[in-house]
Amino acid sequence: MRIVYDVKEMQEIADKYRQWEKTIGFVPTMGYLHEGHLSLVRQAKKDNDVVFVSIFVNPAQFAPNEDLDKYPRDIKRDEELLKNENTDFLFYPTVDTMYPNNFQTYVSVENLTKVLEGASRPTHFRGVTTVVNKLFNITKPHRAYFGKKDAQQLIVIKRMAEDLNIDIEIIGMPIVREKDGLAMSSRNKYLNEKERKEAVCLYQSLNKAQELVDSGISDTNEIKSQMENVIKSYSIPKIDYININSLTTLKPLDRIKRKDTLISLAVFVGKTRLIDNLWI
Ligand code: PAF
Repeated sequence: MRIVYDVKEMQEIADKYRQWEKTIGFVPTMGYLHEGHLSLVRQAKKDNDVVFVSIFVNPAQFAPNEDLDKYPRDIKRDEELLKNENTDFLFYPTVDTMYPNNFQTYVSVENLTKVLEGASRPTHFRGVTTVVNKLFNITKPHRAYFGKKDAQQLIVIKRMAEDLNIDIEIIGMPIVREKDGLAMSSRNKYLNEKERKEAVCLYQSLNKAQELVDSGISDTNEIKSQMENVIKSYSIPKIDYININSLTTLKPLDRIKRKDTLISLAVFVGKTRLIDNLWI
């Protein structure tokens, strides 16, 4: 695996593969990799001739009160994991490389970013879409892979790619879970032993939602209130939001719409904010 730090060098490598008519699969990450990320790399390996992964903890998507400074990092471990997956290139830029002094251009997707995560974290998606756009311009991929755990991120990036006519296929991959159902996330590292046990409440509440939908209940208020009861049966977790929205417009739904429903929640487990979701 070759590690590339420089934008121009990464672009030249991408140009070469394109000239050779090779397909490029790209997995953008913020590092501290887990099985969820590795499942994206494996799919990218299957679908493409060459795989680029990026590791960049993007300051633009963290608000000043968020966890940018303590976001977990372990580049040596990440390099090993990526080598084991036969990753071809790792793009690992510095903050100054990505955001030089006079940087002043941002990409923002409008309506889709005002709800859910965007309502709780108003500046987050502008940072995500800006950096993902830059990374697409640097790695020039044919396909890019994102986890469904960040459901809104995936939906927003698909919208951006379509709206800006970016010639790329955006691929959403299933959520990868721990044995007890907790969705894998780099932020799970923040949980202490007791919090880790209680963090399973997100998955349990989504299971309850699935059970209700399967039994024919479609009233979203009923489903949300039963999900809330599940979370409240635990002692530490505090709900940030539980929402049921259209997968296409992200507008709130009164009733479940088959194949167009996203049930999502954000919960504080101690100081750690976790998200999870279910696609109906
Ligand atoms: O999902 C992430 O890890 C990040 O939001 C991404 C897509 C790498 C952009 O910084």
